[in-house]
Amino acid sequence: MKVLVVGSGGREHAIVRQVSRSARVDKIYCAPGNAGIAELAQCVPIPVMEFDKIASFAKQEAVDLVIVGPDDPLVGGLVDVLKDAGLRAFGPDKKAAILEGSKAFSKDLMKKYGIPTASYENFDDPDKALAYLETVKMPIVLKADGLALGKGVLICNTLEEAKEGVASIMVGKQFGSAGNRMVVEEFMTGREVSVLGFCDGRTIRTMTSAQDHKRAHDHDEGLNTGGMGTFSPSPFYTDEIHKICMEKIYLPTVEAMQKEGRPFKGVIFFGLMLTQDGPKVLEYNARFGDPEAQVVLPRMENDILDVIDACIDGTLDQIELKFKDNAAVCVILASEGYPQKYEKGFPIRGLENFKDRDDIFCFHAGTKFDEQGQVVTNGGRVLGVTALGDDLKAARANAYEAVKLVDFDNAFCRSDIGHAIDEA
Ligand code: AMP
Ligand code: GLY
Repeated sequence: MKVLVVGSGGREHAIVRQVSRSARVDKIYCAPGNAGIAELAQCVPIPVMEFDKIASFAKQEAVDLVIVGPDDPLVGGLVDVLKDAGLRAFGPDKKAAILEGSKAFSKDLMKKYGIPTASYENFDDPDKALAYLETVKMPIVLKADGLALGKGVLICNTLEEAKEGVASIMVGKQFGSAGNRMVVEEFMTGREVSVLGFCDGRTIRTMTSAQDHKRAHDHDEGLNTGGMGTFSPSPFYTDEIHKICMEKIYLPTVEAMQKEGRPFKGVIFFGLMLTQDGPKVLEYNARFGDPEAQVVLPRMENDILDVIDACIDGTLDQIELKFKDNAAVCVILASEGYPQKYEKGFPIRGLENFKDRDDIFCFHAGTKFDEQGQVVTNGGRVLGVTALGDDLKAARANAYEAVKLVDFDNAFCRSDIGHAIDEA
């Protein structure tokens, strides 16, 4: 069959690689893809928000399945456009992707259905938000309602900081229209875990757990980023915690979306905080995490196309997900200055060291070919160097060895990805 993957990041590279391993696939396209994806798929230069162009390309090439990776096109309704064009598409429709597209929606949903999360208030008037802040304990968390590349969250330690936060989100529009509404949320403490689940609208099958590192620098300092590295599984996500999450979070979320007339078909990402009062939801995403996909998918044993078919056809109850009893660590190589200003266009050296390896992978995020056909940097997060290992410590050692195999000017990475492994 012919598969089109939409997106151009490390997550999409990991998805394309998994699809390429399916016995059922004959041809893979990726729109727009990147220099690494180009080794496995035919990249077509269509931006992810050009819905009609994506649909007509898929029709013209008689694509059997479109897999949508990123949040923007999902929240914007690409899956609806593809379905209306008679195509088979994997990912939530617009009605369901609001689970990620509006934090105010997701908080209200959790409140209505008793799903554990931080207490909160929603605001669309900055003056009311400011008045409310005078009445709460610090630290406090401010969240822009809409999509903001994982950066629309401010943790404020003082009232002054919180007031500045309201001014920059709601008045200065630091995150654009995402800040027309804002959630003010209780600050929680605990271990963070990401759990992804395939969903067919009724049934959910969760994947192995992972943990991201959101801050730009070592010791979890610096600005929030899209993610600087991941490991899988999380040693803190025990079977007992999984049972609690299934009963109190995963199943109730799927049921809630169904009851609201927004059945969710695709991947739900549960960002969890393991607090002293039990696991609570930090956020939902309507897609694979990036860079969670880079450590979760290489450990998956199922044919991903079988699982995706079951999600679309509503037969996920007949699928059992299987993950290898090993571990994976992904270290992001980024451009110095990310997540703010950075230069791009630097040649990447050493990519050939990853050819034909099935224990280490170099997932491309921001890369492209220059006019000479060289692979150069083209974004903030450039590469996701990933390694498998028998256990987490081995995977981490392998990942940092693999980081030495590849290089570009202006590169930086965190040196402490997986530090929590030592505390387990
Ligand atoms: P989010 O995009 O909602 O996952 O937020 C990004 C990051 O901010 C999370 O991964 C947490 O590290 C942090 N965060 C978000 N909400 C809270 C909260 N209520 N309490 C503490 N930290 C939070
Ligand atoms: N790694 C977090 C995310 O994909 O939003």
